[in-house]
Amino acid sequence: MAPLIYQLRLLGVILGAVQLISGYSFKNCIAEPYSNLKGFRCNNRADKNISAIVKDLPGSAVNLTASFNRVEHVPSNCFAHLPNLNYLSLDQNQLNYIDPLAFQKLHQLKYLNLSCNSLSELSPSTFEDLHSLTSLSLTRNSLKALPETIFSNVAGLKTLNMRNNRLTNFSAVVKSVSHLTNLTFIDLCFNNLTSLTHSNISLPQSLKKLYLGGNNLHTLGCNPSLFRFIELLDLSYNPKLPSVAFKGVDLRNVKRLTLQFTSVKADELLNISNIYASHVVFSGMGLKNDSLLIGLCATLGRKLKWIRNIDLRHNGIRNINGALSSCPEITGALDLSNNELKKVSCLNFLNKHMNLSKFTAEHNHLTSLPNCTVKKMPHFKSLKELSYRYNRILSVSKYAFSHMPNIETLKLNINNVAFLHREGLKGLKRLKTLRLDNNLLTDLFNETFKDNCDLEILNLRNNRIAVIFNGTFMNLRNLTTLDLGGNKISHIQPSGLDGLKSLSKFYLDGNSLKQIDSFFNSAFQDTLTVLDLQSNFIHFFSENTSSPFLKLRKLSDLKLDSQRNHGLVLLPQNLFKGLHSLRSLYLTNNNIASLAPQAFDDLISLNFLTLDNCCVGVAKLQPGVFKNLRNLTRLIAENMGIQNFSKEVFGNLTKLRILQLNRNVMQSISVDVLESLPKLEYLDIRNVPLSCTCKNSLLQNYTVNNPDVQVVYLDTMPCPEAKNKKFHNFDSKVCYIDLGKYLFFTTAAAVFLFTVSPLLCVKLYWKIKYSYYVFRSWFSDYWSRLRDEEEKCKYDAFISYNFSDEEWVLNQLLPNLEGNGSSFKLCLHHRDFELGRNIVDNIVTAVYSSRKTICVVSKNFLQSEWCSLEIQLASYRLFDEHRDVLLLVFLEPIPERQLSSYHRMRKVMLKKTYLQWPGSDCIDPSQAQELFWNQLRRAIKSGSRLEKDPDEDFDPASKETGNVENLLSDKDYLLP
Ligand SMILES: *[C@@H]1O[C@H](CO)[C@@H](O)[C@H](O)[C@H]1NC(C)=O
Ligand SMILES: *[C@@H]1O[C@H](CO)[C@@H](O)[C@H](O)[C@H]1NC(C)=O
Ligand SMILES: *[C@@H]1O[C@H](CO)[C@@H](O)[C@H](O)[C@H]1NC(C)=O
Repeated sequence: MAPLIYQLRLLGVILGAVQLISGYSFKNCIAEPYSNLKGFRCNNRADKNISAIVKDLPGSAVNLTASFNRVEHVPSNCFAHLPNLNYLSLDQNQLNYIDPLAFQKLHQLKYLNLSCNSLSELSPSTFEDLHSLTSLSLTRNSLKALPETIFSNVAGLKTLNMRNNRLTNFSAVVKSVSHLTNLTFIDLCFNNLTSLTHSNISLPQSLKKLYLGGNNLHTLGCNPSLFRFIELLDLSYNPKLPSVAFKGVDLRNVKRLTLQFTSVKADELLNISNIYASHVVFSGMGLKNDSLLIGLCATLGRKLKWIRNIDLRHNGIRNINGALSSCPEITGALDLSNNELKKVSCLNFLNKHMNLSKFTAEHNHLTSLPNCTVKKMPHFKSLKELSYRYNRILSVSKYAFSHMPNIETLKLNINNVAFLHREGLKGLKRLKTLRLDNNLLTDLFNETFKDNCDLEILNLRNNRIAVIFNGTFMNLRNLTTLDLGGNKISHIQPSGLDGLKSLSKFYLDGNSLKQIDSFFNSAFQDTLTVLDLQSNFIHFFSENTSSPFLKLRKLSDLKLDSQRNHGLVLLPQNLFKGLHSLRSLYLTNNNIASLAPQAFDDLISLNFLTLDNCCVGVAKLQPGVFKNLRNLTRLIAENMGIQNFSKEVFGNLTKLRILQLNRNVMQSISVDVLESLPKLEYLDIRNVPLSCTCKNSLLQNYTVNNPDVQVVYLDTMPCPEAKNKKFHNFDSKVCYIDLGKYLFFTTAAAVFLFTVSPLLCVKLYWKIKYSYYVFRSWFSDYWSRLRDEEEKCKYDAFISYNFSDEEWVLNQLLPNLEGNGSSFKLCLHHRDFELGRNIVDNIVTAVYSSRKTICVVSKNFLQSEWCSLEIQLASYRLFDEHRDVLLLVFLEPIPERQLSSYHRMRKVMLKKTYLQWPGSDCIDPSQAQELFWNQLRRAIKSGSRLEKDPDEDFDPASKETGNVENLLSDKDYLLP
């Protein structure tokens, strides 16, 4: 089974190598998760070559952002392989040249962003193929001119943004856009236009917004009907533009004209122009004192009975007294922001405008808001919205807003409010949104919000509140969002949060809370959805702390990340108990020592979990820690010191789509685990020291060839062993040489050898050794036989003896056989063996070139290995070649007990008789010895060929030639 799988994988590897890009990871881009290979980001790449950056993107791409690169030019047909692009952003590069054919084939492109580059010119055919383009941004380049025909094929263009360039020729712009019947917006702010002179051609009727601020206009110099159809016209920051420039110019349809920081005088303009007075924005028109304001009001008064909005920002107004009384009634919004007002009293300068709905005085110098019940104050019953943001308000007196009882939105944020009278907000029963963030508040009182029972959003972020006292929010039963982030809250009294019956989003991040045990058993337990506790001092001291969140049934977002000083260390195993609705959990930047395996057990709805840098050192994630996170789609487990990516930990995440494992320490990742995540589509394993060895060969194959999982920037992942090698192409072929089979057979063979060879060694040592020489002798058989024929035998007998018996051989045997009348030729190893030749070969040669082998058997002989070999060979000839070559001569009587361990010897002795040397201790030694020598000589002379009877077992005793009978009759010794 296993080898089959390996073979299939091998096949996969081969197929993978055939297809060039079958996997799903991009060299320089990231496919947006969930975008279905439609959205791509290729930002912050080192590459300068845009073609190389986008080369490997698939044709399905719809959105492409390649920003913050160092691309200098866009070559021709750069995106031709991406015909479905709708949105292309090449902003924040260093583009200085775009090839005329760069955007060929982008027939679907709707949005093109080329802003923040260094383009100084464009070819007339740059946008030729962009038939669908509706939005083009060329903001912040160095364009001096536009070719007249540049938009000739871009008929559907709706917005054209050319802010911050160096265009000087308005006429050319008009010419280039005049045919664009869908064009609604052109931004030409901050160019170098000095006049709006243009030929007879006019702007398209569809154009509604024209921004010409920040140029160098001295005059308009245009055709009177140029602005006929414009609704929003911005001419601000043209400091030399005079009122007279508007003489005769048709501004009838302009709904908003901004002239901030020009030389246009408000009342002069109203006198010479046909613009509707209430459509002029009087911001930045130098209306700094009462007399100028009175002049304006008088002019307005002559034209209008009432006016909806007046924008008087940026006029340097220091005081405002009765001037606005002469104006027509303002029914909408009055904006006095960015002036130098030190006080607005109780808005009594607006006593003629009691129906005002919105008053704004941001960015002034207001320092306090006084009590507004003192005198008989006008009541602004229609006022719904008031903003004093960005002032220097230090104190808010009691009843400060009692003259505007119906106010719904009050913005006092970004001031210095340190003193908010406990009755400062008194009477604001309709208040829905209150912004008090970024002030210096330290105390909130029971009465502070007592009247604000309609309040829905209360923002107290970034103040200096330290304690939430009992009953502070008692009446805020409609409050849904409470932002107390960035304060110094260390303590919330037991009923400090009582009354918040509708609270849904509660931000307590950046405070000094040390514990969170009891106060969530409050009114909002059925409504709370977001709880932000990031960056407090929360610590737990017992593994068994019961969950403070237990009753927050609807909680869907919980942030516990970045606890100070060094992070959460102990995470009680029941901390998240009961959070069945939780969808996002943030635990990043803590110092958790261990995550209990049941820590996340109740989080069955969890969708998003980030554990980035949450733990201390190398984390061993407990098996089953994620087992119930069946709905998790995104897991960020970066920088957690994960060493082991195991199935027991990650195997249950069946809905996981995005897995970020950046900056961990595992050296390998098992493909089995990844394959147990069936929905995975985005895998970030950058900065993980995955070794480029065979243990990751399957992972390499997976990352390169898996068509479902994008491995982020796979191509740049280096091998930890060698930085110049890459993980995606390290040589893994060697790992696939039928690894399974190979392993199977080698292990099987090894196991077999290791178990069997000791046995064999013990039992069959001699058999093996013998077989070896049999084999060898069998080989040498031929030549020895041939030689046999040629020269018969070289020796009559080969004498095999032990060194200790040498004396007998030299003194007795040799004289009696070689000399003394008989002339046998004997082979003695010390005399006849060839020097330098392997002793085994010498023995083999000796045995085979002698007619007989005489073994001189003694106790020492039996113990000598080489002598045994000689017997083996000779007995081989006896048994297997049927040549009787062996003669045994016993020098001393050897007890049978001792012989029994020499099986071969016994076997030989069973088949043959042997001669016993009559030692000096017998009755008549010389006669016995004489007989011995005669018998031996006869035996040597006897032929060696035996006749074999195929039917009978070979029995030398009955078939041997006479000499053997004689030997037998001597009855020397016949072994049983
Ligand atoms: C493409 O980008 C636009 C604007 O950023 C976005 O609204 C749209 O959803 C994106 N479409 C895809 C398929 O990513
Ligand atoms: C102009 O816009 C309309 C409506 O959006 C559209 O039907 C028409 O095709 C556009 N014209 C061009 C030339 O693209
Ligand atoms: C604007 O144009 C004038 C002449 O038309 C030229 O002298 C000046 O340098 C230009 N300014 C910039 C910033 O291009």
